[in-house]
Amino acid sequence: MNEVVRPAGAGDLARINAIYNHYVLHSHATFEIEPVTMAEREDWASHYADSGRYRLLVVGDDDVLGFATSSPYHLRAAYETSVELSVYVDPDATGRGLGARLYGTLIPLLEREDLHRAYGGVSLPNASSVALHERFGFREAARYSEQGRKFGRYWDVVWLERPLG
Ligand SMILES: CC(C)(COP(=O)(O)OP(=O)(O)OC[C@H]1O[C@@H](n2cnc3c(N)ncnc32)[C@H](O)[C@@H]1OP(=O)(O)O)[C@@H](O)C(=O)NCCC(=O)NCCS
Repeated sequence: MNEVVRPAGAGDLARINAIYNHYVLHSHATFEIEPVTMAEREDWASHYADSGRYRLLVVGDDDVLGFATSSPYHLRAAYETSVELSVYVDPDATGRGLGARLYGTLIPLLEREDLHRAYGGVSLPNASSVALHERFGFREAARYSEQGRKFGRYWDVVWLERPLG
C-alpha cells in the first residue's frame, strides 16, 4: 500500500467533500441530510490546523481516499480537553486498512496535545466503525436510542470514549 497520511491542504477539499456527500446522501453514518457545499466545506476546513487539538488528515496517493478529523466535542470552555473524532473513507476503498491508517496517525498526534478524552459517535448499525474505534482503544460510554431521524426512520447512537495523554 503506497497511500500516505498527511495534513489536508486546500486542494484536497473537493475530494473530501465528494467522499462526505456520498455518505450524506446514501448512509446514516452522518446525520447530515443536505450535501455540504464547497463554500461550507472551506469554512469548515478553516477550523483545523497543522498543530494543536483540531486536525484534519487525509489518506491517499495521487487521489484522496479518506479523511479524519479531531474537532471540539463541545464549545463550553471546560470541554476543551475533549475532542470528537470523525473518519470517512471513499466507499470504493473501505475495508483495506485506510481508516486504521488515519486513526493510527491522528491519535498519536493528539496524544501530544493537552487533551484528556477522545469520543466517537457512531449511529448504528456500523460494524466497521465500531471495530475501528475499538481497535484504537475506544470503549462504549453511552448508548442513545433513536437519537436521529434520517431516511424516514430513527437511529440509535453509541458514543465511544478513549483516554488521551
Ligand atoms: C468506518 C470506516 C471509516 C472504517 O474505515 P475502513 O478503512 O473501512 O476500515 P479498516 O479497513 O481500517 O478496518 C477497521 C476495522 O474495521 C473492520 N471492518 C472493516 N470493514 C468491516 C465490515 N464491513 N464489517 C465489520 N468490520 C469491518 C476491520 O476488520 C477492522 O477491524 P480490526 O482491526 O478489528 O480487524 C469506513 O468503513 C467508512 O468510511 N465507512 C462509512 C462512513 C462511516 O461510517 N464513518 C464513520 C462514522 S462514525
